[in-house]
Amino acid sequence: MYKNMIKYIDFHDVIECLIAAVEARDKYTCGHSTRVADITLKIAEEIGIQGAALEMIHMAAHMHDIGKIGISDEILSKPGKLNALEWDTIKQHPQIGYNILTRSNALREIADIVLYHHERWDGNGYPEGLKGEEIPLGSRIIALADSIDAMMYKRPYKQPITEQECIYQIKINKGLQFDPYLAQIAINVCFQKQSFYYTFESFTANGAK
Ligand SMILES: [Fe+2]
Ligand SMILES: [Fe+2]
Repeated sequence: MYKNMIKYIDFHDVIECLIAAVEARDKYTCGHSTRVADITLKIAEEIGIQGAALEMIHMAAHMHDIGKIGISDEILSKPGKLNALEWDTIKQHPQIGYNILTRSNALREIADIVLYHHERWDGNGYPEGLKGEEIPLGSRIIALADSIDAMMYKRPYKQPITEQECIYQIKINKGLQFDPYLAQIAINVCFQKQSFYYTFESFTANGAK
């Protein structure tokens, strides 16, 4: 009986529920993971990723910040700037996410993508300081999608920046924070293709924070 039930579970839906629970703690991050998943999907499709690999990267994007469930509300929702110790705590979220996801064998590859979503192309990211193509492709795509969402949407401590400023920030970080090839693809799909531009507009219209 349970086996039959499992056949009908849509894992994508279940994951969205789980992440909605994580984000319900903090109204300012509400919708962040869904937007990151949408942007990630567009970039991944544009470079020709298909089928199971595409689905895996998309799910990893939905869950990239799942580890924030292990960070205290005081730090997570702190309105002002974080001190060095608080930053060190926040920086544990990829590892916490990895520890959660590796409890399931089926999510092992997704766990790897989540673990490395704050690595940087130049090797100055965390948790391991991986460089260039040592960083899984899915993590490199999510890093871009995550930054674009952070720049384009309002947070308690900052206003969103303009589209032109966002494009500029991505360009100057090509080869530093971001994979240079993927950075250009991200600019194309997020800002220069009319269809996705309208997606941004509708997020704003829905009052996304
Ligand atoms: Fe993150
Ligand atoms: Fe994020």
